[in-house]
Amino acid sequence: MTAGDASGFRSEVHEADGSWDATARVVDAEGGEDERVVEAALRPRRLADFPGQPRVRDQLGLVLEAARRRGSPPDHVLLSGPPGLGKTTLAMIVAAELERPIRVTSGPAIQHAGDLAAVLSSLDEGEVLFLDEIHRMSRAAEEMLYLAMEDFRVDVVVGKGPGATAIPLELPPFTVVGATTRAGLLPAPLRDRFGFTGHLDFYATDDLVTILRRSAALLDVEADDPGVAEIAGRSRGTPRIANRLLRRVRDWAQVHGEGVVDRHAAREALALFDVDTAGLDRLDRAVLEALCRRFGGGPVGVSTLAVAVGEESDTVETVAEPYLVREGFMVRTPRGRAASPRAWQHLGLTPPVDAPAQAVLPIDDGGPGRLG
Ligand SMILES: Nc1ncnc2c1ncn2[C@@H]1O[C@H](COP(=O)(O)OP(=O)(O)OP(=O)(O)O)[C@@H](O)[C@H]1O
Ligand SMILES: [Mg+2]
Repeated sequence: MTAGDASGFRSEVHEADGSWDATARVVDAEGGEDERVVEAALRPRRLADFPGQPRVRDQLGLVLEAARRRGSPPDHVLLSGPPGLGKTTLAMIVAAELERPIRVTSGPAIQHAGDLAAVLSSLDEGEVLFLDEIHRMSRAAEEMLYLAMEDFRVDVVVGKGPGATAIPLELPPFTVVGATTRAGLLPAPLRDRFGFTGHLDFYATDDLVTILRRSAALLDVEADDPGVAEIAGRSRGTPRIANRLLRRVRDWAQVHGEGVVDRHAAREALALFDVDTAGLDRLDRAVLEALCRRFGGGPVGVSTLAVAVGEESDTVETVAEPYLVREGFMVRTPRGRAASPRAWQHLGLTPPVDAPAQAVLPIDDGGPGRLG
Protein backbone atom coordinates (compact mmCIF):
# COMPACT_ATOMS: atom_id res chain seq x y z
CA MET A 1 0.00 0.00 0.00
CA THR A 2 1.38 3.39 -0.89
CA ALA A 3 0.96 6.61 1.01
CA GLY A 4 -1.35 7.66 -1.80
CA ASP A 5 -3.86 4.89 -1.16
CA ALA A 6 -4.25 6.00 2.43
CA SER A 7 -5.83 9.28 1.41
CA GLY A 8 -7.90 7.78 -1.39
CA PHE A 9 -5.63 9.58 -3.80
CA ARG A 10 -5.30 8.21 -7.29
CA SER A 11 -1.68 7.79 -8.19
CA GLU A 12 -0.35 5.22 -10.58
CA VAL A 13 3.10 4.08 -11.48
CA HIS A 14 2.16 2.45 -14.77
CA GLU A 15 1.29 3.99 -18.11
CA ALA A 16 -2.27 4.95 -17.33
CA ASP A 17 -3.28 8.16 -18.97
CA GLY A 18 -5.79 9.76 -16.69
CA SER A 19 -6.20 12.80 -18.86
CA TRP A 20 -9.50 14.10 -20.02
CA ASP A 21 -9.59 13.13 -23.65
CA ALA A 22 -11.33 15.92 -25.46
CA THR A 23 -10.33 14.71 -28.91
CA ALA A 24 -12.04 11.42 -28.22
CA ARG A 25 -15.34 12.71 -29.46
CA VAL A 26 -14.36 12.45 -33.11
CA VAL A 27 -14.81 8.76 -33.60
CA ASP A 28 -14.77 7.27 -30.15
CA ALA A 29 -18.33 6.12 -29.96
CA GLU A 30 -17.82 4.08 -33.09
CA GLY A 31 -14.46 2.61 -32.16
CA GLY A 32 -14.63 -0.84 -30.65
CA GLU A 33 -11.19 -1.06 -29.11
CA ASP A 34 -10.16 0.20 -25.75
CA GLU A 35 -8.70 3.59 -26.69
CA ARG A 36 -6.25 3.74 -23.81
CA VAL A 37 -4.76 0.35 -24.54
CA VAL A 38 -4.32 1.14 -28.23
CA GLU A 39 -2.91 4.59 -27.48
CA ALA A 40 -0.41 3.20 -25.02
CA ALA A 41 0.68 0.59 -27.55
CA LEU A 42 1.28 3.27 -30.17
CA ARG A 43 3.28 5.66 -27.98
CA PRO A 44 6.91 6.05 -28.98
CA ARG A 45 9.09 5.04 -26.01
CA ARG A 46 12.25 7.03 -26.62
CA LEU A 47 13.03 10.52 -27.80
CA ALA A 48 14.78 9.18 -30.90
CA ASP A 49 11.54 7.43 -31.99
CA PHE A 50 9.40 10.52 -31.48
CA PRO A 51 8.60 12.12 -34.85
CA GLY A 52 7.77 15.81 -35.12
CA GLN A 53 8.16 18.73 -32.68
CA PRO A 54 11.86 19.05 -33.65
CA ARG A 55 12.47 22.07 -31.43
CA VAL A 56 10.93 20.69 -28.28
CA ARG A 57 12.63 17.36 -28.95
CA ASP A 58 16.07 18.93 -29.33
CA GLN A 59 15.63 21.17 -26.30
CA LEU A 60 14.34 18.37 -24.12
CA GLY A 61 17.06 16.04 -25.38
CA LEU A 62 19.69 18.53 -24.28
CA VAL A 63 18.14 19.06 -20.85
CA LEU A 64 17.96 15.30 -20.24
CA GLU A 65 21.42 14.51 -21.56
CA ALA A 66 23.01 17.21 -19.42
CA ALA A 67 21.21 15.92 -16.33
CA ARG A 68 22.32 12.40 -17.10
CA ARG A 69 25.95 13.50 -17.36
CA ARG A 70 25.72 15.43 -14.10
CA GLY A 71 24.11 12.45 -12.45
CA SER A 72 21.33 14.54 -10.96
CA PRO A 73 17.63 14.96 -11.79
CA PRO A 74 16.91 17.55 -14.50
CA ASP A 75 14.94 20.75 -13.99
CA HIS A 76 11.18 20.48 -13.83
CA VAL A 77 9.56 20.27 -17.27
CA LEU A 78 6.30 21.86 -18.36
CA LEU A 79 4.62 20.66 -21.55
CA SER A 80 1.80 22.68 -23.01
CA GLY A 81 -0.33 22.43 -26.11
CA PRO A 82 -3.67 21.24 -27.47
CA PRO A 83 -4.96 17.72 -26.72
CA GLY A 84 -3.44 14.70 -28.47
CA LEU A 85 -0.11 16.24 -29.50
CA GLY A 86 2.09 14.09 -27.28
CA LYS A 87 2.38 15.68 -23.82
CA THR A 88 1.73 12.44 -21.94
CA THR A 89 3.91 10.57 -24.42
CA LEU A 90 6.80 12.96 -23.78
CA ALA A 91 6.35 12.68 -20.01
CA MET A 92 6.72 8.90 -20.30
CA ILE A 93 9.76 9.44 -22.52
CA VAL A 94 11.40 11.73 -19.92
CA ALA A 95 11.21 8.91 -17.38
CA ALA A 96 12.39 6.32 -19.90
CA GLU A 97 15.36 8.44 -20.97
CA LEU A 98 16.32 9.03 -17.34
CA GLU A 99 15.71 5.35 -16.61
CA ARG A 100 13.60 6.33 -13.63
CA PRO A 101 10.11 5.28 -12.53
CA ILE A 102 7.22 7.64 -13.22
CA ARG A 103 4.32 8.46 -10.92
CA VAL A 104 1.20 9.57 -12.78
CA THR A 105 -1.51 11.77 -11.39
CA SER A 106 -3.51 14.81 -12.44
CA GLY A 107 -4.68 18.19 -11.20
CA PRO A 108 -8.32 17.24 -10.69
CA ALA A 109 -7.26 14.24 -8.57
CA ILE A 110 -5.47 16.56 -6.15
CA GLN A 111 -8.27 18.26 -4.28
CA HIS A 112 -6.48 18.82 -1.00
CA ALA A 113 -2.92 19.73 -0.13
CA GLY A 114 -2.82 16.48 1.87
CA ASP A 115 -3.34 14.50 -1.34
CA LEU A 116 -0.23 16.09 -2.78
CA ALA A 117 1.74 15.70 0.47
CA ALA A 118 0.98 11.98 0.39
CA VAL A 119 2.31 11.50 -3.10
CA LEU A 120 5.33 13.80 -2.64
CA SER A 121 6.45 12.12 0.56
CA SER A 122 6.41 8.72 -1.10
CA LEU A 123 8.63 9.71 -4.05
CA ASP A 124 12.01 8.06 -4.44
CA GLU A 125 15.13 9.97 -5.38
CA GLY A 126 15.15 10.94 -9.04
CA GLU A 127 11.60 9.76 -9.63
CA VAL A 128 9.49 11.57 -12.23
CA LEU A 129 6.17 12.95 -11.03
CA PHE A 130 3.80 13.49 -13.95
CA LEU A 131 1.12 16.04 -13.12
CA ASP A 132 -1.39 16.02 -15.95
CA GLU A 133 -3.84 18.93 -16.31
CA ILE A 134 -1.75 20.80 -13.81
CA HIS A 135 -3.86 23.95 -14.31
CA ARG A 136 -6.75 22.21 -12.55
CA MET A 137 -5.01 21.68 -9.22
CA SER A 138 -6.43 23.30 -6.09
CA ARG A 139 -4.84 26.52 -4.85
CA ALA A 140 -3.67 24.98 -1.58
CA ALA A 141 -1.98 22.10 -3.38
CA GLU A 142 -0.39 24.54 -5.79
CA GLU A 143 1.26 26.41 -2.95
CA MET A 144 2.61 23.22 -1.47
CA LEU A 145 3.97 22.32 -4.89
CA TYR A 146 5.92 25.61 -5.14
CA LEU A 147 7.88 24.74 -2.04
CA ALA A 148 8.36 21.12 -3.03
CA MET A 149 9.62 22.03 -6.50
CA GLU A 150 11.99 24.70 -5.29
CA ASP A 151 13.32 23.45 -1.95
CA PHE A 152 12.36 19.75 -2.05
CA ARG A 153 10.46 20.18 1.15
CA VAL A 154 6.84 19.94 2.29
CA ASP A 155 5.35 21.37 5.42
CA VAL A 156 3.05 18.78 6.89
CA VAL A 157 0.45 20.50 9.04
CA VAL A 158 -0.43 18.59 12.18
CA GLY A 159 -3.52 19.52 14.17
CA LYS A 160 -6.10 22.20 13.51
CA GLY A 161 -6.79 25.80 14.52
CA PRO A 162 -4.39 27.82 16.69
CA GLY A 163 -2.61 24.69 17.92
CA ALA A 164 -1.68 23.50 14.43
CA THR A 165 2.01 23.14 13.71
CA ALA A 166 3.85 22.70 10.45
CA ILE A 167 6.47 19.99 10.45
CA PRO A 168 8.94 20.39 7.60
CA LEU A 169 9.68 17.19 5.72
CA GLU A 170 12.73 16.92 3.48
CA LEU A 171 12.12 15.28 0.09
CA PRO A 172 14.70 13.58 -2.12
CA PRO A 173 15.27 15.48 -5.38
CA PHE A 174 12.76 14.53 -8.07
CA THR A 175 11.50 15.94 -11.36
CA VAL A 176 8.01 17.26 -11.97
CA VAL A 177 6.71 16.96 -15.50
CA GLY A 178 3.59 19.09 -15.77
CA ALA A 179 1.20 18.98 -18.71
CA THR A 180 -1.47 21.49 -19.58
CA THR A 181 -3.72 22.37 -22.47
CA ARG A 182 -4.08 25.85 -20.94
CA ALA A 183 -0.65 27.28 -20.13
CA GLY A 184 -2.28 30.70 -19.86
CA LEU A 185 -4.24 29.55 -16.80
CA LEU A 186 -1.14 28.63 -14.79
CA PRO A 187 -0.27 31.19 -12.12
CA ALA A 188 3.08 32.86 -12.82
CA PRO A 189 4.78 31.55 -9.64
CA LEU A 190 4.02 27.99 -10.73
CA ARG A 191 5.11 28.58 -14.32
CA ASP A 192 8.37 30.10 -13.09
CA ARG A 193 9.32 26.94 -11.21
CA PHE A 194 9.69 24.97 -14.40
CA GLY A 195 13.20 25.21 -15.77
CA PHE A 196 12.05 24.15 -19.20
CA THR A 197 8.77 24.76 -21.01
CA GLY A 198 8.04 22.94 -24.23
CA HIS A 199 5.13 24.22 -26.24
CA LEU A 200 3.79 21.55 -28.58
CA ASP A 201 2.38 22.76 -31.84
CA PHE A 202 0.27 21.01 -34.46
CA TYR A 203 2.26 18.52 -36.55
CA ALA A 204 3.35 19.00 -40.11
CA THR A 205 1.71 16.58 -42.55
CA ASP A 206 5.07 14.87 -43.23
CA ASP A 207 5.48 14.05 -39.56
CA LEU A 208 1.95 12.66 -39.42
CA VAL A 209 2.82 10.46 -42.41
CA THR A 210 5.79 9.09 -40.45
CA ILE A 211 3.60 8.51 -37.39
CA LEU A 212 0.89 6.79 -39.45
CA ARG A 213 3.37 4.48 -41.18
CA ARG A 214 4.76 3.45 -37.83
CA SER A 215 1.28 2.93 -36.37
CA ALA A 216 0.15 0.90 -39.39
CA ALA A 217 3.16 -1.38 -38.94
CA LEU A 218 2.45 -1.78 -35.22
CA LEU A 219 -1.22 -2.52 -35.89
CA ASP A 220 -0.28 -4.88 -38.71
CA VAL A 221 -2.35 -2.90 -41.22
CA GLU A 222 -1.36 -2.63 -44.88
CA ALA A 223 -1.44 1.03 -45.93
CA ASP A 224 -0.27 2.55 -49.22
CA ASP A 225 1.27 6.01 -49.65
CA PRO A 226 -1.79 7.82 -51.05
CA GLY A 227 -3.97 6.33 -48.31
CA VAL A 228 -1.58 7.43 -45.58
CA ALA A 229 -1.22 10.89 -47.15
CA GLU A 230 -5.00 11.30 -47.28
CA ILE A 231 -5.36 10.51 -43.57
CA ALA A 232 -2.36 12.65 -42.58
CA GLY A 233 -3.76 15.67 -44.41
CA ARG A 234 -7.08 15.39 -42.61
CA SER A 235 -5.99 14.72 -39.02
CA ARG A 236 -6.00 18.30 -37.69
CA GLY A 237 -2.24 18.14 -37.23
CA THR A 238 -2.85 15.77 -34.30
CA PRO A 239 -1.25 12.31 -33.88
CA ARG A 240 -4.08 11.03 -31.69
CA ILE A 241 -6.61 11.85 -34.39
CA ALA A 242 -4.35 10.44 -37.12
CA ASN A 243 -4.05 7.13 -35.27
CA ARG A 244 -7.76 6.99 -34.65
CA LEU A 245 -8.70 7.76 -38.24
CA LEU A 246 -6.22 5.12 -39.39
CA ARG A 247 -8.14 2.54 -37.37
CA ARG A 248 -11.47 3.65 -38.78
CA VAL A 249 -10.15 3.55 -42.34
CA ARG A 250 -8.77 0.09 -41.63
CA ASP A 251 -12.25 -0.93 -40.45
CA TRP A 252 -13.79 0.39 -43.65
CA ALA A 253 -11.17 -1.38 -45.77
CA GLN A 254 -11.79 -4.65 -43.97
CA VAL A 255 -15.54 -4.48 -44.40
CA HIS A 256 -15.88 -2.90 -47.84
CA GLY A 257 -12.49 -3.35 -49.50
CA GLU A 258 -9.51 -5.64 -49.68
CA GLY A 259 -8.27 -4.71 -46.23
CA VAL A 260 -5.74 -2.22 -47.60
CA VAL A 261 -5.74 1.38 -46.38
CA ASP A 262 -5.67 3.24 -49.71
CA ARG A 263 -6.97 6.59 -50.89
CA HIS A 264 -10.42 5.28 -51.77
CA ALA A 265 -10.88 3.64 -48.37
CA ALA A 266 -9.60 6.78 -46.64
CA ARG A 267 -12.00 9.05 -48.48
CA GLU A 268 -15.01 6.82 -47.91
CA ALA A 269 -14.29 6.26 -44.24
CA LEU A 270 -13.52 9.90 -43.49
CA ALA A 271 -16.75 10.96 -45.20
CA LEU A 272 -18.62 8.42 -43.08
CA PHE A 273 -17.10 9.82 -39.90
CA ASP A 274 -17.82 13.45 -40.79
CA VAL A 275 -14.24 14.54 -41.33
CA ASP A 276 -14.26 17.04 -44.15
CA THR A 277 -11.60 17.75 -46.78
CA ALA A 278 -9.89 20.33 -44.56
CA GLY A 279 -9.84 17.80 -41.70
CA LEU A 280 -12.49 19.69 -39.75
CA ASP A 281 -14.84 17.59 -37.68
CA ARG A 282 -18.38 18.18 -36.54
CA LEU A 283 -17.52 20.52 -33.67
CA ASP A 284 -15.15 22.59 -35.81
CA ARG A 285 -17.81 23.04 -38.44
CA ALA A 286 -20.51 23.77 -35.87
CA VAL A 287 -18.35 26.55 -34.46
CA LEU A 288 -17.73 28.06 -37.88
CA GLU A 289 -21.40 27.72 -38.88
CA ALA A 290 -22.51 29.47 -35.69
CA LEU A 291 -19.90 32.17 -36.13
CA CYS A 292 -20.89 32.92 -39.73
CA ARG A 293 -24.61 32.18 -39.85
CA ARG A 294 -25.75 33.26 -36.39
CA PHE A 295 -23.29 35.99 -35.54
CA GLY A 296 -22.59 37.43 -38.97
CA GLY A 297 -18.90 36.52 -38.70
CA GLY A 298 -18.42 37.97 -35.21
CA PRO A 299 -16.66 39.17 -33.20
CA VAL A 300 -18.49 37.19 -30.55
CA GLY A 301 -17.46 36.07 -27.07
CA VAL A 302 -16.31 32.49 -26.72
CA SER A 303 -18.94 31.66 -24.09
CA THR A 304 -21.74 32.85 -26.38
CA LEU A 305 -20.26 30.81 -29.18
CA ALA A 306 -20.03 27.76 -26.92
CA VAL A 307 -23.69 28.05 -25.93
CA ALA A 308 -24.64 28.30 -29.60
CA VAL A 309 -22.96 24.98 -30.36
CA GLY A 310 -24.06 23.33 -27.11
CA GLU A 311 -20.55 22.80 -25.72
CA GLU A 312 -18.52 23.96 -22.75
CA SER A 313 -16.47 27.11 -23.34
CA ASP A 314 -13.41 25.15 -22.30
CA THR A 315 -14.01 22.57 -25.03
CA VAL A 316 -14.43 25.22 -27.70
CA GLU A 317 -11.33 27.02 -26.47
CA THR A 318 -8.98 24.06 -26.03
CA VAL A 319 -10.22 21.67 -28.71
CA ALA A 320 -11.75 23.52 -31.65
CA GLU A 321 -10.25 26.98 -31.50
CA PRO A 322 -6.48 26.34 -31.62
CA TYR A 323 -6.71 24.47 -34.90
CA LEU A 324 -9.25 26.84 -36.45
CA VAL A 325 -7.01 29.79 -35.58
CA ARG A 326 -3.88 28.06 -36.73
CA GLU A 327 -5.46 27.15 -40.09
CA GLY A 328 -6.76 30.66 -40.58
CA PHE A 329 -10.48 29.91 -40.26
CA MET A 330 -10.93 32.07 -37.21
CA VAL A 331 -9.19 34.97 -35.52
CA ARG A 332 -9.06 35.84 -31.84
CA THR A 333 -9.61 39.52 -31.31
CA PRO A 334 -9.84 41.62 -28.17
CA ARG A 335 -13.61 41.73 -28.70
CA GLY A 336 -14.10 38.02 -29.29
CA ARG A 337 -13.81 35.45 -32.04
CA ALA A 338 -14.30 36.36 -35.67
CA ALA A 339 -14.58 34.38 -38.89
CA SER A 340 -11.84 34.87 -41.46
CA PRO A 341 -12.48 34.86 -45.23
CA ARG A 342 -11.38 31.21 -45.34
CA ALA A 343 -14.23 30.25 -43.01
CA TRP A 344 -16.87 31.80 -45.26
CA GLN A 345 -15.28 30.20 -48.27
CA HIS A 346 -15.09 26.77 -46.64
CA LEU A 347 -18.78 26.88 -45.76
CA GLY A 348 -19.65 28.04 -49.27
CA LEU A 349 -21.01 31.35 -47.97
CA THR A 350 -20.44 34.93 -49.06
CA PRO A 351 -19.06 37.17 -46.35
CA PRO A 352 -20.98 40.39 -45.70
CA VAL A 353 -19.30 43.44 -47.25
CA ASP A 354 -18.58 44.90 -43.83
CA ALA A 355 -17.15 41.67 -42.41
CA PRO A 356 -15.24 42.87 -39.34
CA ALA A 357 -12.71 40.07 -39.03
CA GLN A 358 -10.03 41.41 -41.31
CA ALA A 359 -9.88 44.78 -39.61
CA VAL A 360 -8.74 43.57 -36.20
CA LEU A 361 -5.39 42.17 -35.18
CA PRO A 362 -5.21 38.66 -33.78
CA ILE A 363 -3.96 38.28 -30.21
CA ASP A 364 -0.45 36.90 -29.98
CA ASP A 365 -0.36 34.21 -27.33
CA GLY A 366 3.24 33.17 -27.37
CA GLY A 367 5.43 31.19 -29.68
CA PRO A 368 6.68 27.60 -29.57
CA GLY A 369 9.37 26.09 -27.35
CA ARG A 370 10.46 28.82 -24.99
CA LEU A 371 12.92 28.47 -22.16
CA GLY A 372 10.87 29.10 -19.07
N1 LIG B 1 5.15 12.34 -31.85
C1 LIG B 1 4.33 11.28 -31.81
N2 LIG B 1 4.63 10.18 -32.51
C2 LIG B 1 3.82 9.12 -32.54
N3 LIG B 1 2.67 9.04 -31.89
C3 LIG B 1 2.32 10.10 -31.16
C4 LIG B 1 3.12 11.27 -31.08
N4 LIG B 1 2.51 12.16 -30.28
C5 LIG B 1 1.37 11.57 -29.88
N5 LIG B 1 1.25 10.33 -30.42
C6 LIG B 1 0.12 9.42 -30.29
O1 LIG B 1 -1.03 10.19 -29.98
C7 LIG B 1 -1.63 9.69 -28.77
C8 LIG B 1 -1.97 10.89 -27.92
O2 LIG B 1 -0.78 11.46 -27.39
P1 LIG B 1 -0.70 11.95 -25.89
O3 LIG B 1 -1.58 11.11 -25.02
O4 LIG B 1 0.73 12.00 -25.53
O5 LIG B 1 -1.30 13.40 -26.05
P2 LIG B 1 -1.52 14.53 -24.95
O6 LIG B 1 -0.84 15.75 -25.47
O7 LIG B 1 -1.11 14.02 -23.63
O8 LIG B 1 -3.09 14.75 -25.01
P3 LIG B 1 -4.10 15.23 -23.83
O9 LIG B 1 -3.95 16.71 -23.72
O10 LIG B 1 -5.45 14.86 -24.35
O11 LIG B 1 -3.70 14.49 -22.60
C9 LIG B 1 -0.61 8.77 -28.12
O12 LIG B 1 -1.20 7.63 -27.61
C10 LIG B 1 0.32 8.36 -29.23
O13 LIG B 1 -0.11 7.13 -29.73
MG1 LIG C 1 -2.20 13.56 -21.93
